[in-house]
Amino acid sequence: MSDAYEPYMPLLNRIKSEGKCLDGGILKVDSFVNHQLDPLLMMDLAKEFVKRFADKHIDKVITIESSGIAPAILVGLLLKKPVVFAKKKKPSTMNDMYETEVFSFTKNRSYSVCCSKEFINKDENILFIDDFLANGNAAKGIIDLVNLGGAKICGMGFIVEKSFQKGGTILRNLGYQVESLVIIDALDDCKITFKA
Ligand code: G4P
Repeated sequence: MSDAYEPYMPLLNRIKSEGKCLDGGILKVDSFVNHQLDPLLMMDLAKEFVKRFADKHIDKVITIESSGIAPAILVGLLLKKPVVFAKKKKPSTMNDMYETEVFSFTKNRSYSVCCSKEFINKDENILFIDDFLANGNAAKGIIDLVNLGGAKICGMGFIVEKSFQKGGTILRNLGYQVESLVIIDALDDCKITFKA
């Protein structure tokens, strides 16, 4: 697949009709991604991700709780591969795990994410799926966890990327294939400006 950006139009139209801008460059899509979910749209998004990563060998899908789980599980279903989600709270039942720190720009604090060593295996090719790409800190945390397990990220898919934050540039410069179904260039003055 090429690196050229092509918006996924059904999603773009849905954002146009239901998305809302909040202060601080936040896009609210609570009616179909972050609170109420639209399973039919989500399945269409998953099919689009599978299409965009069709040339990759994928052993597993990884995401981070909680909003990444819905698209990730549908991608895993289509690929017939397992889906693992990194946890933001260390479960009391988990001893042997990989752990790293993630800085949340929106919350202005760091939190730790972890994944059991059982679920990241050496030499696996792992596809990362998440809802938003902003500063890329969650993605960097996932890269750390996957590297700690000796596995490899073979691509990264986001439902929405905000190009006015630096995550997309950082991840592409690191050499990752980043596929964002819709890219937003600005969220100023309560107006959503989509990348052309
Ligand atoms: P980053 O991972 O790209 O650096 O993002 P950042 O720290 O800025 O964002 C932290 C959280 O906010 C993430 O969710 C991310 O998905 C979400 N987020 C970032 N920008 C937007 C936005 O414009 N709209 C919405 N709705 N969410 C945004 P999280 O804290 O991990 O929460 P969740 O996955 O449990 O929902």
